[in-house]
This record gives sequence, C-alpha cells and structure tokens, in this order.
Amino acid sequence: MDRETLTAQLRAFRDEALRELAAARGEDALEALDVHYLGRRGGVLSGLMRGIGALPAEDRPAVGAVVNEIRSEVEGALAAARAAARADALAVRLDHEGEDMTAPGRPIARGVPHPIVETVARIAEVFGQFGFVTYEGPEVESDITNFQMLNIPPDHPARDLWDTLYVDLDGGLLRTHTSPGQIRVMHAEQPPIRALLPGRCFRYEAVDASHASEFFQVEGLMVDEGTSMADLRGQLDEFGHAMFGRGRATRFRPGYYPFTEPSVAFDIGCVMCDGSGCPACSRTGWMTILGAGMVHPVVLQYGGIDPERYQGFAFGMGVERIAMLRHGIGDLRLFLENDLRFLEQFR
Ligand code: PHE
Repeated sequence: MDRETLTAQLRAFRDEALRELAAARGEDALEALDVHYLGRRGGVLSGLMRGIGALPAEDRPAVGAVVNEIRSEVEGALAAARAAARADALAVRLDHEGEDMTAPGRPIARGVPHPIVETVARIAEVFGQFGFVTYEGPEVESDITNFQMLNIPPDHPARDLWDTLYVDLDGGLLRTHTSPGQIRVMHAEQPPIRALLPGRCFRYEAVDASHASEFFQVEGLMVDEGTSMADLRGQLDEFGHAMFGRGRATRFRPGYYPFTEPSVAFDIGCVMCDGSGCPACSRTGWMTILGAGMVHPVVLQYGGIDPERYQGFAFGMGVERIAMLRHGIGDLRLFLENDLRFLEQFR
C-alpha cells in the first residue's frame, strides 16, 4: 500500500458516502449509513485507516490529515441530513395534526348550578331582602365552638342530637351543624347583625333515602336591640311563602335546642296534599322545614354580646330537605351521586 493508493481510496470513500447520504430518506436510513461508514468497529473508514499503519512513517501525517478532513466532511453531511430528515418528519406530522381553521368549533358544554347551590342561592335571595349577608365558616370546628359555646357542655344529654365525627387533630371535629358560625359572626361583627351561613355539615349517620353523613345547612342569625319572636315569625313566614307559594300555611311548634330559648320548629302546609293529610306528611298536613328560636343569653355572652342590651334570633335549615320539597325529589342520595341524568334536569 502506498500513499497515493490510500488517498485515492479515501476520496472514493468520501464520494460514495456523500452520494448515499444525499439519497437516503429518513432518520433510520441515516443511522444505518452512520454505522456502515463511520462505525468505530467494522465501519468502512476504520478499515481504510488500518492501511495508514502500513505506510512509511514520513507519509503517515499527510494521510492522517486527509482522513480527518474527510471524516469531518462526512460527519457534517450526516448531521445536515439528519436535521433535514427531522424537519421533514415534523412537517408531515403537522400536516396530519395541524389545526383546520375552517373546521366548525367544538361546542362548549354548559354547566348548570347543582340543585343544592341553586337552593342556597334562592334562600340567600329571600333573606337578602331583609338585609341578611352571607358568611362562611370552616368545616372543621372544635368541641368548644360546635358545642360548648352553644350552651352544650361536655356530657350534656343534648349531644345525642348530633352524632359527631371527630378529627384526629387538636380535638377537632367535623361541624355537625352550621350553628358554630353564629359564634364566629358575633366575634367578627358588632350588632346589628343579620348573617346567613350556608355550608356543609357532617354527622355519623347510616345513609338512606333521607339521611346522609354529609349535607348542607343554612344558618340564620339576627342580633339587634329589640329583636323579638315577632321578627322571627314574620321573616320565616315570608320565607315559607317565597319558597313554597304565597298561599302556603305556616306554623310554629314548640321545640328544643340548647342554644335557643324559646325554641321552635317551623312547619309549612304539606307540599304534597296541601294540608289534608297524606303519607308524605304522616297524615298531619304539616312538614317541618327548620329549627329556630331566640338566641340563648348565654350564647350571646359567649359571642361577646351584652344580652341585657341585645336580643337575637337564629334558625337552621337542611338545604337538601328544602330542595327535595321544592322539586319533588324522593331520595337524598341523588344530591351526592353526580349523575348527569339527575343534574341536567335543573337546567
Ligand atoms: N343547629 C340546629 C340543628 O342542626 C338547627 C338550629 C339552628 C336550631 C339555629 C335553632 C337555631 O339541628
């Protein structure tokens, strides 16, 4: 092997490699050519380089320089061909996936408020007319705010009214009613207070068509000078009529809650039979829709309000029950299932 022959072979190699690279289509084909021509072991160029060792020592540097030059030329061509192949592939993909500006738009699915949300909004609208403003309290309360400050001491038998879920954290519990919001509003505001407190509540209940372990309540609280039972009666009356029809009968019955005194249950004439008596109202003609009463002086005190100067009333209602009566819904579980066949009926 002499210098001229090897140099000629190297040039021939370069010409062939450049021709093949120019003709190759696709990144896989280029990868194969890379291995074939430039592969460290078994590549054509590696084979030719072995010939350098057979040359006279004074010829080797010049041929080595030719090898380097040719290698970088072929490598450069390979890199350029790869970039071009990638750009081609991208262009093909964009051609397939690209936006068709003439295609009709996809319809945007319109949601509807959940019937619970809608009912809370309607309740807030009615009481908004009397100046009630909506507040929110936390779902995790403490024994103190959920019970003690509402005049329900530890071990008081009235605790049996609320089957409680306790939280493994600083004596916390999931609020069993929205009534602790009364305390929070009294701490945050000065009378006159007219507050509405909607929110999710939790109880340790076996779930059936009329019981759930989570449900919504709306609490109402009014505190002012001279607030009386007549104010409570008048406003609940208006609420009953606004929600269930102008001709609807309403009544107060005596009730018991530790945080109100006196306490009442507020009933409306049965929405199914209009008062004549049917299975839905246990043949009484009446349906209870909320509990209420005059805020107990001790609770006002816990709220930092002077009971000698101010009086208040409070009420609390179950939102699911109101929604069920308004829309003729028979099963409480429907509110939690998120079945579109149910929800879309409230559009
Ligand atoms: N917190 C009571 C309950 O959940 C309802 C209520 C609220 C009663 C306010 C009176 C006054 O049963």
